Amino acid sequence: MTLQLAIAIALHQLATVIWIGGMFFAHFALRQSAQRRLEPPQRLPLLLAVFDRFFVWVWLAVVVLWASGFWIFLGIYDGAMGWHVHVMMALALVMTALFAYIYFVPYRALGQRVGEQDWAGAAARVATIRRIILINLALGLATAMLGSAGRYLQ
Ligand code: HEM
Repeated sequence: MTLQLAIAIALHQLATVIWIGGMFFAHFALRQSAQRRLEPPQRLPLLLAVFDRFFVWVWLAVVVLWASGFWIFLGIYDGAMGWHVHVMMALALVMTALFAYIYFVPYRALGQRVGEQDWAGAAARVATIRRIILINLALGLATAMLGSAGRYLQ
C-alpha cells in the first residue's frame, strides 16, 4: 500500500514538474528571448518546432496526472479525501480542456500558417497560444500549491 502510494505520488509529482515547469520556461524564458532576438520567419517556425516537442510531453503528463490522481484517490487512500483534492480535480479539468483547445485549434492553425509562410497569421496563433498558456500556468501553479499544501489546510 505504502509503496503503491509512493509510486503514484512520485509519478503525479513528475508529471506536474514537467507540465508546469515547461510552461514556466516557455513563457518567462523562451518567448521573450525569441521575441527580442529573432524575426518572424525565424521565430515562428522555431516556436512551432518547440510546441511540436513540448506538447507530446504535455499529453503524457496529462494522462499520468489523471491516472495517478485517480489511482491515489480511488485505490490507495483510506477514508475521504480533503476538499483540496476536489478543487485540484476541477482545476485539472479546466487545464486539460484549455490544453486540448490549444492543441486542436490554434496549434493546428499555426502549423498551417507556418507552412504557408503567412507570418502575420502565424503570429496571431502564437499570441492566442501564449495567452492560454499563461492562464494554464497560473492555474497549474495554484493546483500544484494546493496539491502539496492543501492537506495542511483541512
Ligand atoms: C494539473 C493537474 C494536477 C496537478 C498540477 C496536481 C498536482 C499535485 C501535487 C503537486 C500534489 C502533491 C504531491 C505530494 O504529496 O508531493 C498532488 C496530490 C494529489 N493529487 Fe493532484 N494534481 C493534478 C491533478 C489531479 C487529478 C486530476 C487528481 C484526481 C483525479 C489528483 C489527485 C491528487 C491526490 C488524491 C493527491 C494527494 C493529496 C494529498 O495527499 O493530500 N490530482 N497533486
